Amino acid sequence: MQISLEGKVSLVTGASRGIGLAVVKAFSEAGATVVASARKISEELAELANTGHVFPVAANAVTAEGAKHLANEVKSRFGKLDILVNNIGAAELRRGVGFLEITDEDWREMVEINLMSVVRVTRTVLPLLLIQGGTIVNISTMNAMMPAPPIPAYSAVKAAVTNLSKSLAEEFGPKGIRVNVVAPGPTRTAMWEGVPGDLNELAASFGITLGRFAEPEEVAHLVVFLASDRAAMITGANYVIDGGLVKTIH
Ligand SMILES: NC(=O)c1ccc[n+]([C@@H]2O[C@H](COP(=O)([O-])OP(=O)(O)OC[C@H]3O[C@@H](n4cnc5c(N)ncnc54)[C@H](OP(=O)(O)O)[C@@H]3O)[C@@H](O)[C@H]2O)c1
Repeated sequence: MQISLEGKVSLVTGASRGIGLAVVKAFSEAGATVVASARKISEELAELANTGHVFPVAANAVTAEGAKHLANEVKSRFGKLDILVNNIGAAELRRGVGFLEITDEDWREMVEINLMSVVRVTRTVLPLLLIQGGTIVNISTMNAMMPAPPIPAYSAVKAAVTNLSKSLAEEFGPKGIRVNVVAPGPTRTAMWEGVPGDLNELAASFGITLGRFAEPEEVAHLVVFLASDRAAMITGANYVIDGGLVKTIH
């Protein structure tokens, strides 16, 4: 099966590294034009711009101004949008503290980064998606279904992202917009920097059935499929990609 995104205009947030960068690369390889947002354009992202398919935009998409700047860039360059990937996300910045130590400020930060980025960017670019119909892929986490004690705020807020995605799928499906969630398990990115322990040992201790972390590219392949017309009948779905870590049927 060939998957092509030829002729599609896409927007990927949090594109400087990790899963976001891998999605940008996979989209551009599949023929899409990619507007790639990051607070600071990384070397890897700048290099992808040489393909001629990738247009990095320096913006903080968590803020209303950043989201507006992105929508303006997409509109002025391409006049429409076919695919939005809301990828920005971060777990508890002060890892290892328990629920009682998590302050209101910590909660607010988790809500801003993980939920309000999705709300603001989606709200600003929806008019561009509605021009010809399109699709949204929100990057949540398996922690939305299997909350983890060290990161309760992240888990709860990402569950809201998964939940919101279903509402968006219902409201905008009849207007030609598909909305799906990709819920990765542990994936080898900067998110794990500073977490003590070797990733293979962590994979074993977490109980990942396939015995290893996912690679960002593996998550990106799933995003490409969901964003493509091959997934034209899929909306409101939650795709877990976790090597078997979640032991229940979901
Ligand atoms: N890695 C995993 O194990 C894992 C598992 C499940 C879900 N996920 C989800 O996958 C997505 C990508 O994560 P990743 O693993 O690729 O992490 P990553 O390498 O740390 O990248 C996260 C991206 O989010 C952006 N970001 C983080 N904090 C931000 C903030 N305060 N304001 C604006 N942008 C911010 C960063 O953009 P800048 O370039 O602007 O810094 C970065 O590009 C996230 O939604 C994460 O929750 C990851």
